[in-house]
Amino acid sequence: MDIGIEQISFYTAQYFLDLKTLAEARGVEPDKFYTGIGQEKMGIPPPDEDVVTMGASAAFPLKEQGALEGVEALLFATESGIDQSKAAGLFIHGLLGLPERCRVVELKQACYSTTAALRMAMGLVVMKPQSKVLVIASDIARYVLGSPGESTQGCGAVAFTVTADPRLLAIDPEAGFYADDVMDFWRPNYLSEALVDGKYSTQVYIKALKAAWKQYVGESGRSLNDFARFCYHIPFTRMAAKAHQKLAKGISDEELQTVIGESLIYSRSAGNCYAAALYVGLTSLLDNAAEDLGGKRIGLYSYGSGCVGEFFSGVVQPGYREMLLTDAHREMMASRTELTFQQYEDIYNYGIPTDGGVHTFAQYCTGPFRFAGIRGHKRIYERA
Ligand code: HMG
Repeated sequence: MDIGIEQISFYTAQYFLDLKTLAEARGVEPDKFYTGIGQEKMGIPPPDEDVVTMGASAAFPLKEQGALEGVEALLFATESGIDQSKAAGLFIHGLLGLPERCRVVELKQACYSTTAALRMAMGLVVMKPQSKVLVIASDIARYVLGSPGESTQGCGAVAFTVTADPRLLAIDPEAGFYADDVMDFWRPNYLSEALVDGKYSTQVYIKALKAAWKQYVGESGRSLNDFARFCYHIPFTRMAAKAHQKLAKGISDEELQTVIGESLIYSRSAGNCYAAALYVGLTSLLDNAAEDLGGKRIGLYSYGSGCVGEFFSGVVQPGYREMLLTDAHREMMASRTELTFQQYEDIYNYGIPTDGGVHTFAQYCTGPFRFAGIRGHKRIYERA
């Protein structure tokens, strides 16, 4: 029995900052961001958008199509948690009107947690093949203003269903995985920005990739030639390119573009989506692949700082294009609103009130759900 991803949906906030604007404000050459980092824009969530509204908005098109009927678990992956106790997925469970008979839990291991959720979902489907699990990953990448990480901010969410005999991607049983207790990137509970040892984080990302790939090759007997495309965790698109160059030494620019280019299109304009990033890349690949990938194998590398890395693979299912939400994704990306540098800094510096009083937020968010306010330390969400 094949198990994997039945359908996938991507959402990012309505607003973005062009990295040319950031470059000008910080006195940096725009090409450092556009070429050196490989990013053009970064998604910025307005004050009434958070990981709950983005996650619910990613899942909403699936709900509207009736694809969430019979969901028995909602696994929510994030590193931008809004509560130390309650799983953010429970707010989404309410917003989407999911059944009471549903397991809801939040998972965390930096950007890796969505792959852990996928594994857990697959385990649940193995035990009960007729069941369906909803995985949602939603994150906001935020670094200190003016720091080297600033240009790699972003935001976004993906929602996907995991089933037996999936119509999008059947996940192979083989995998290579690696863990190490390192401090390359972290966020203490009392900070709202991540701390990062940037250069070191890129080295650990590669070290984990090499270890995971070696193990994967040993277990599967496959080589690079067995893959039509690769999707990497994308903190910034240049990182994915560098990662693939480590595996495929001496690869030409043209070939590199063929095997990873289509997976980088959405991230180049949305920025790092942390837990969602690899799966934003997968969505981008499936939506934008010029060639029909039906029946072809793709390689996936998931990385979460701290760190855990996993290389795994899947076979794209014949007829997969019928399941895609390509037009909606493209329209969302094309209709976003550009911010000025001042607007970006104002949004960045806006803090959620913590006094326990009653606060109502102005409407900026244009997705189906919004974070409407806060009352008595309780977050209030509504249909926009
Ligand atoms: P930096 O140190 O300011 O950048 O920040 P740099 O000086 O290394 O320059 C970057 C590249 O731009 C270089 O190319 C320059 O040569 C080039 P490279 O040497 O790498 O090939 N460059 C130019 N190119 C064209 N025209 C120019 C120009 N100027 C320079 N004029 C750094 C880079 C990645 C350190 C920073 O952005 C950062 O700290 N980012 C955050 C951390 C990060 O994203 N790490 C990635 C791996 S860890 C990970 O993926 C996990 C994560 O997603 C979190 C999680 O798991 O939850 C982050």
